[in-house]
Amino acid sequence: MNRDVVCAVLCLVLTFVEALENGLARTPPMGWLSWERFRCNTDCKNDPDNCISENLFRTMADLVVSEGYAALGYEFINIDDCWLEKERSLTGQLVPDRTRFPSGLHDLSEYIHSKGLKFGIYEDYGNYTCAGYPGILGYLETDAQAFADWNVDYVKIDGCYSHPRDMDRGYPEFGYYLNRTGRPMIYSCSWPVYQIYSGMSPNFTSIIEHCNLWRNFDDIQDSWASVESIIDYYGNNQDIIVPNAGPGHWNDPDMLIIGNFGLSYEQSKTQMAIWAILAAPLLMSVDLRTIRPEYKAILQNKKIIAVDQDPLGIQGRRIYKHNGIEIWARPTTPVYQNYFSYAVAFLNRRTDGTPSDVAVTLRELGLSNPGGYTVEDLYEDVNYGTLVPNTKIKVKVNPSGVVILRADVQPSFEPSTARQSFLQQRTPYDPYSIFQPRPNSFI
Ligand SMILES: *[C@@H]1O[C@H](CO)[C@@H](O)[C@H](O)[C@H]1NC(C)=O
Ligand SMILES: *[C@@H]1O[C@H](CO)[C@@H](O)[C@H](O)[C@H]1NC(C)=O
Ligand SMILES: *[C@@H]1O[C@H](CO)[C@@H](O)[C@H](O)[C@H]1NC(C)=O
Repeated sequence: MNRDVVCAVLCLVLTFVEALENGLARTPPMGWLSWERFRCNTDCKNDPDNCISENLFRTMADLVVSEGYAALGYEFINIDDCWLEKERSLTGQLVPDRTRFPSGLHDLSEYIHSKGLKFGIYEDYGNYTCAGYPGILGYLETDAQAFADWNVDYVKIDGCYSHPRDMDRGYPEFGYYLNRTGRPMIYSCSWPVYQIYSGMSPNFTSIIEHCNLWRNFDDIQDSWASVESIIDYYGNNQDIIVPNAGPGHWNDPDMLIIGNFGLSYEQSKTQMAIWAILAAPLLMSVDLRTIRPEYKAILQNKKIIAVDQDPLGIQGRRIYKHNGIEIWARPTTPVYQNYFSYAVAFLNRRTDGTPSDVAVTLRELGLSNPGGYTVEDLYEDVNYGTLVPNTKIKVKVNPSGVVILRADVQPSFEPSTARQSFLQQRTPYDPYSIFQPRPNSFI
């Protein structure tokens, strides 16, 4: 895509559109979410430690604080599906499962808040949730008020058992009722993914206006194949997806599965790095009681979290893909004159069993600030010092692994004006730049 087309998309989508301005999610939300790891396990009789119950969420809240995640920004404890009784009350209220949530959600919410954390909940814009519990259709106002009464901070609304065509009206309508409660709640939508599945083109103008985050693609599963399919989806569709992200409104490639069963150490590093490039919500779905220290260290990598949480909120892109090697780059602060800093991830999708060398000049990556960049590796303790655009950097990338670098221009830090100039493209400078794939010179 050439620069004019990029500008046409960005300028149309972002310059003239109002985003959801509830003041929330200025950076991508971070926390813990039950679904990928704990699913719909309701068998508290035989599996009391792993079933979806208030104990599970209390325990995870405890660990998010005591194991140091909270101090790094992980703040939400989010319930997913399977928390409800199968029927509403006689007065039409949602009722949490009486045996698994005996203290009720107000109490659980208080507990989570008492730890300095925030509380998230799941429902569905349909007659049922995906697992067959009561959905919100027909009860939008009642349920929005129930969430507010329980002091919920984050609401994820799924899209099973509903008509994708109704979502253009339905998701904004529920957002309206959330807003009317007066309680600020992050609003996570599944609106685009269900429309895409049904062959529709989602109206992202409207989605940005009404949701703080939204899913575009499949649920993540516990496998490298699943992570790869998400990376490919975001890379292959980036021209449509990337411009929609920004403070208050994010694409959600789904949970972090680091520390579970399906990813190797290298693959886990890759998920963390690429999610940070994608400005993704960082919602861990892992058993924090048993996670091994090396995986915990990945989730607690401060430098990569800082990339994810960069205040410009510009989502990165795949700028190179050839022979199983990909390069992804995300413009970040600090910004100096018209030059952005970048996080750059080198990804090796090859399976030939030995690390691949990738050599590229900063200029070829689009990093052309004459004063240069201070470059460091975000996993390895390697600092390259200050490099000028003609410097060739060479990295060794393990199979299914990643090398992620940060290249900072001299700071002159004014995020809001920098973001504005990026969106309006008033300067001739394109932060994704003049990158010209020259395959043979790289590997
Ligand atoms: C939800 O249930 C109502 C009442 O049974 C029905 O009329 C409606 O078609 C259902 N909606 C969906 C999306 O299945
Ligand atoms: C409700 O919407 C208005 C207008 O967008 C906004 O200013 C306000 O902060 C919102 N309130 C809540 C609680 O989301
Ligand atoms: C998309 O949504 C926007 C904002 O709600 C609206 O103005 C526009 O007409 C919609 N576009 C289409 C094609 O429906």
